[in-house]
Amino acid sequence: MFKKRIAALVVGVVALHGVSALADTKQVEVMHWWTSGGEAKALGVLKDGLKQRGYTWKDAPIAGGGGEAARTVLKARVASDNPPDAIQMLGFTIAEYAEQDYLANLDPLAAKEGWDKVVPAPIQRFSKHDGHWVAVPVDIHRTNWIWANKKIFDQLHLTPPQSFDQLVADAAVIRKAGYIPLAHGGQPWQEATIFDSAVMSAGGPKFYTQALVNLDPAALGSKTMEKAFDQMRALRGMVDPNFPGRDWNLATSMVINGKAAMQIMGDWAKGEFVNAGKKAGTDYLCFQYPGTQGDFIFNTDQFATFKKGDAASPGELAFASTVMDKGNQAKFNQIKGSIPARLDVPADGLDECGQKSMADLRTALKNGTMVGSFAHGHAMPDGPKNAVYDVVTHFFNSNQSSADAVKQLVQAINNAK
Ligand code: GAL
Repeated sequence: MFKKRIAALVVGVVALHGVSALADTKQVEVMHWWTSGGEAKALGVLKDGLKQRGYTWKDAPIAGGGGEAARTVLKARVASDNPPDAIQMLGFTIAEYAEQDYLANLDPLAAKEGWDKVVPAPIQRFSKHDGHWVAVPVDIHRTNWIWANKKIFDQLHLTPPQSFDQLVADAAVIRKAGYIPLAHGGQPWQEATIFDSAVMSAGGPKFYTQALVNLDPAALGSKTMEKAFDQMRALRGMVDPNFPGRDWNLATSMVINGKAAMQIMGDWAKGEFVNAGKKAGTDYLCFQYPGTQGDFIFNTDQFATFKKGDAASPGELAFASTVMDKGNQAKFNQIKGSIPARLDVPADGLDECGQKSMADLRTALKNGTMVGSFAHGHAMPDGPKNAVYDVVTHFFNSNQSSADAVKQLVQAINNAK
């Protein structure tokens, strides 16, 4: 009888503390939205790295570029007290979970491995909460890129457009030759990704910061912002009729296969070219959205780990260490299309697009002009971000005037603040 009671007690304790008991098992559950060909391949580097540290990777993929679906699933799992061990997170979302005390403090590991010295400050700003490391950054993506099919460009004697007007003129030439000028997927986050570039092109880094980071009503309601919407309207004219709902990687395939000439997308698109065996400069071109040459709009993928009791579990620490490993970051980013989050990883393994990104990043860091992507949660918190998504997507999918969109933008931010 006594024995039975003890057994029942043990079962009860394990059930009650299921999370901490599991924390000691040799398994780490990782939630992410990297399900495209290139993304999945890059993730393989981290899976191998974790295995080498003696832990099994329990995969929890939630399809949906930009991570909106993953964020929704995470909310539900946290509400039912069953968060994954580690999760991919962007920008302000990290602070949101840290604020509620869900995330493990990684300071001792950060000190041991010297993360403070190798991660650029604009990224640490999101990795840390109240001065403590709560997330580990694996890459630095840039959103103001255009990916182009080189064969189409060569055939039509086109070179990377240096101004937005030139892009419009080139698109007309491409259309006339029977190609789709712009491959686009009609999902709010993809329209928002284009908007990052349009705002930067219309006003430059200072204006971008005033409008999308400081949420200054004068900047949001300005003529310059109207110009950004004018660009969006012109881009809308370059897409094909089947764009609604299309996934971003299918749009990239249209450029890879020569159906479309260009895609405006962050450099995770390069991961799809790499995965298809295509070479930069030979099969495809990478260049900045006109008017944003040299500007660096960043998006960095980080992983946060959920607290087990007071701290991180050994498996979570092994995972964080895997993500921050110099060799892993070198390999991962060659496949993913991004550049390493650690500045001490040499550039030699990167192709010409990656090398360009790294050079531009260093210049932007020096000049203080590295700005966070609005579309990917690094400019404003999720509340106002979602409100601006609605404005941008409504504009792109209607005949609204730029002047009206700007008015709606000011209103949306006002309501969401
Ligand atoms: C972004 C993420 C990138 C990328 C993209 C498409 O939010 O930061 O790494 O993969 O979504 O899924």
